[in-house]
Amino acid sequence: MPTDLTTIPAPVRMMQLTTGSQVSQSVSVAAALGVADVLAGGPRAVDDIADAVGADPGSLYRLLRVLGDVGVFEESDGRTFALTEVGELLCSDRPGTLRGWAVLVGSPFHRDAWTDLLASVRTGEPAFDRVHGQLAFDFFRNHPDDQAVLDGAMTSISGLLIAAVVSCYDFSPFGTVVDVGGGHGALLAAVLTASPGARGVLFEQPHVAAAAGGPLDAAGVRDRCEIRGGDFFEAVPTGGDAYLLSNIVHDWGDDDAVQILTRCREALGDHGRVLVTEDVLPSGLEPSQAKLIDLEMLVMGPGRQRTEEEYGRLFARAGLRLTRLVPCQGSLGVVEAVRA
Ligand SMILES: C[S@@+](CC[C@H](N)C(=O)[O-])C[C@H]1O[C@@H](n2cnc3c(N)ncnc32)[C@H](O)[C@@H]1O
Repeated sequence: MPTDLTTIPAPVRMMQLTTGSQVSQSVSVAAALGVADVLAGGPRAVDDIADAVGADPGSLYRLLRVLGDVGVFEESDGRTFALTEVGELLCSDRPGTLRGWAVLVGSPFHRDAWTDLLASVRTGEPAFDRVHGQLAFDFFRNHPDDQAVLDGAMTSISGLLIAAVVSCYDFSPFGTVVDVGGGHGALLAAVLTASPGARGVLFEQPHVAAAAGGPLDAAGVRDRCEIRGGDFFEAVPTGGDAYLLSNIVHDWGDDDAVQILTRCREALGDHGRVLVTEDVLPSGLEPSQAKLIDLEMLVMGPGRQRTEEEYGRLFARAGLRLTRLVPCQGSLGVVEAVRA
């Protein structure tokens, strides 16, 4: 049950809100150290944990007791800690692990960008470019270690997205699914597993495509899938029945997003579909996780989350017509379009 915020005294609530970034940083440090992996076999004393992760025992204890209070670990006598159900999500190999995401939110490149949110709100310009002196995609090309942190976070998050999308949207009518900007192929692997008659095309930037395909091999669907490198601003592979854009459109401002969607419309057959999979802003005033993701987009680059109506307008500019929004989990949805 969600906490009823009205029962928490306002000063307490404000202190919780203003110290949220310190708690977040503490979770991130525990994730980076790999504390949860050490506890996966059962409770351990803090000195053992410190030994295993390479930390100062006294400082690690100060970190872990804070995380005990917020429910990530459970402390018992003798400075011993165990995993809680929440803490288990920091284990590297658990289904649905969020360790990669937790590492990202405390990593210097991400946190440095968020420190400049004030300037983004004043100017409307992305913080990331200002703080790091280059666009995010260029930055990650030049910083492979940070790219690895970003990839880990994307894998974490896409684990949540994939399960929800494949269970809420029926891909079985499509003969060929083109995953545009499909990363290493985790979503496409799940789609092809759920649709044994379908073929797939994983389309990515050439340097990403060169290293992609691991999830397709792991799922045993590699023989039904082609991996192609290219630039979605120039052209996307033709011949698809569905063009899947998972967390792509929200990376871009309207003009760039229209250009990508236009390339998909040009490649699409008469009966094909464009499927945009991301967190959709509510049209009304209700709370939504998509609002915080939208702020993340403001910090990180030119992108934004959108309402169903805003997708409708983007599609129209690209010669497409929005047919329906299929809600998945939380604010996640599949926004479907056909040729106008
Ligand atoms: C936010 S990630 C989304 C990855 C994946 N679809 C998912 O949902 O996890 C954006 C992806 O777009 C790819 N991308 C960026 N610019 C591209 C371009 N011009 N052409 C093709 N892919 C591109 C990136 O390499 C990256 O994998």
